[in-house]
Amino acid sequence: MDEKVSLYFEEHGHGTPVVLIHGFPLDHTIWNPLVPLLEGKARLILPDLRGYGKSPVTRGTYDMGLLADDIKEMLDGLNIRQAVLVGHSMGGYVSLAFARCYPERLLGLALVASQAAADTPERRQGRLQTAGEVERRGVKSLAKTMPEKLTTHPDLVEPLRQLILQANPAGVAGALKGMADREDMTRRLSEINVPTLIIAGAQDSLIPLEKSREMERLLPRGWLVEIPNAGHMPMMEAPEMVAEALFRLLEKI
Ligand code: MLT
Repeated sequence: MDEKVSLYFEEHGHGTPVVLIHGFPLDHTIWNPLVPLLEGKARLILPDLRGYGKSPVTRGTYDMGLLADDIKEMLDGLNIRQAVLVGHSMGGYVSLAFARCYPERLLGLALVASQAAADTPERRQGRLQTAGEVERRGVKSLAKTMPEKLTTHPDLVEPLRQLILQANPAGVAGALKGMADREDMTRRLSEINVPTLIIAGAQDSLIPLEKSREMERLLPRGWLVEIPNAGHMPMMEAPEMVAEALFRLLEKI
């Protein structure tokens, strides 16, 4: 039985609940540039996933379904019946797991620099190897190599490195193992019946644009917004364009 945890979260604004779920190995602060742009239009809820930021750390594998359950528990605690989920990268994998387990709780969805596909066998092996290294030696080598892959904006590289350096090794390893085991959700996209915004940075070196185009084709109510001059972190690299796309999503709810 997986240990239950209460997630740390921050809240801003009033209106339709919008949960912004960060990617790996980051925390809720990646969404800060969007807060002043969106808080006048919605109730923003920014959790730290289990193992990240100020949320409790547990050992073991963080299944995407387990992380989705944590979000559901958080919503229950807030008495929120339905919400829009905005998931960045791994947060998108969590959002897709939530959509599968709790479709009745979903008002709308945004997948930011994310994908429905599972890992290739090589990627899976690489993740498990990294998880072992992080467990033995900590997050230093990840913090050395990952920031340049996340962004095309030189001024964001150091702040992202500092964020990764703060990550807890058990949280990092748990999420790596959970991502390695995640299910391919591609065939399930046709079952998602809420408005679904896909946001992709045109220069994302981690998730190819083709993955986003494929999701757009398969999602019954999906549409893609490509952000030029952004990599894997469009909410930090081009917050105005991301906020604009999220307004359009809120208009459809
Ligand atoms: C993320 O940004 O959450 C990760 O890069 C996702 C992944 O490694 O698949």
